[in-house]
Amino acid sequence: LVGGDLKKWSGPSTEVFSTISSTEEYKPTLLGSIPDMGEEEALDALNAALKAYDQGQGAWPTMRVKERIDCMEKFVDKMVTKRDEVVKLLMWEIGKSLPDSEKEFDRTVIYIKDTIEDYKQLDRDAAKFQKSDGVYAHIRRGPLGVVLCLGPYNYPLNETFALLIPAIIMGNTTIFKPAKHGVLLITPLLEAFQSSFPNGVVNIIFGRGRAVASPIMKTGKVDVLALIGNSKSANALQDQHPKSNRLRLVLGLEAKNPAIILPDADLDLTIDECIAGTLSFNGQRCTALKVVYVHESIAEEFNKRFAKRVDELKFGNPWENGAKLTPLPEPSKPAYIQELIDDATAKGASILNAKGGETTDNYIWPAVLYPVTKDMRVYQEEQFGPVVPIVSFSNIEEPLDDMAASNYGQQVSLFGKDVYTLAPLIDTLVNLVCRVNLNSSCQRGPDVYPFTGRKDSAQATLSVHDALRSFSVRTFVASKDN
Ligand code: G3H
Repeated sequence: LVGGDLKKWSGPSTEVFSTISSTEEYKPTLLGSIPDMGEEEALDALNAALKAYDQGQGAWPTMRVKERIDCMEKFVDKMVTKRDEVVKLLMWEIGKSLPDSEKEFDRTVIYIKDTIEDYKQLDRDAAKFQKSDGVYAHIRRGPLGVVLCLGPYNYPLNETFALLIPAIIMGNTTIFKPAKHGVLLITPLLEAFQSSFPNGVVNIIFGRGRAVASPIMKTGKVDVLALIGNSKSANALQDQHPKSNRLRLVLGLEAKNPAIILPDADLDLTIDECIAGTLSFNGQRCTALKVVYVHESIAEEFNKRFAKRVDELKFGNPWENGAKLTPLPEPSKPAYIQELIDDATAKGASILNAKGGETTDNYIWPAVLYPVTKDMRVYQEEQFGPVVPIVSFSNIEEPLDDMAASNYGQQVSLFGKDVYTLAPLIDTLVNLVCRVNLNSSCQRGPDVYPFTGRKDSAQATLSVHDALRSFSVRTFVASKDN
């Protein structure tokens, strides 16, 4: 979708395979193909976004708030009619379970509606005049320009739209490239974008990042890079921008969120939360618990019960009732997880669960590894997949020191009961990460709460409320009391 035209593609295409199957074999199945675009199409999309931004009075950036809201409402009304198609593609393309796929879709619709409401409030606030020292002020928010938006494969709808929707409604114009996995599910929504917004406000291109995002960045004409993914891609794209110091970054990146389990933790609850935290969507969440610190006094009991629970999880196709573990969309993931397991076991860790590391076609059963130490790759790397490293500690300073030394700082889960122990610990933890989850696993939602991170984990804040601010700048009309 470029400049309002849904162009028919006749160039080279990339085939999209699903790693799930209706047979028992879980072999990749051809789902469809998508345009393999290059520099020419990428620059066409950029020019369309620039043109839509620069059209002068009444164009998208200066359009009345009510009109922009009407466009967004039209879009969301059309989007809900595509629920079944998109949910099916979420299951087929990225292997997300049916309940989680439905949740992703519904959560996105709510996100858009909440964004509209918050935007109305922002406008109401802007309508109020202030006066100080004889100067009347009308302070409002304006767009930043052209936004390049790149979404992740694990939340190809929800997280991408958490960038795209606030960027659009604030009056920016956009170029959006979906992730490699989770790309087909955007196609049922193309017509809704086309018919809801003026030409060039939303441009959607397909292709490899290097082929389409790099040429756009190199022009220096992008004002905001909005990306959820890894810092390597974000840094590379930022470096390609000739005026990168002028580029605004809205980034959601890696994390290595720990669980810290204190001696007095309620183990039933802790195990439930740690199962969900480590293995929901096979651990392919930036918010997943990626290392579990358990106090040495309860390590044996926790490990035994946790490992048993992992082996009781049901593996199956995403639509199968009760399937918690599902096929992995990235064909290279099982081999990578196997490398982490081999490295850890060679350095002294054991696999605690009987099924840990068993492979079936494109799946590898989550291995619970213990004791994990700092020299192991599974401790150092963001595994983003089904493997659970467990570290035991005797003194709370040990996990705290590790967190302080980490390159990441998104969230932590803290399990314990004694308020006199928890209260000062929470005060320390909130200065190491941006969200402390008390007796619960880490997560992004509800989407009205701030979602961000320290260090290499994020730039800017995403939530309904914060994202509107991340994609805009405060503007100010002043007049003197004379
Ligand atoms: O991958 C990162 C997502 O922000 C995780 O979102 O906590 O809602 O699963 P979630």
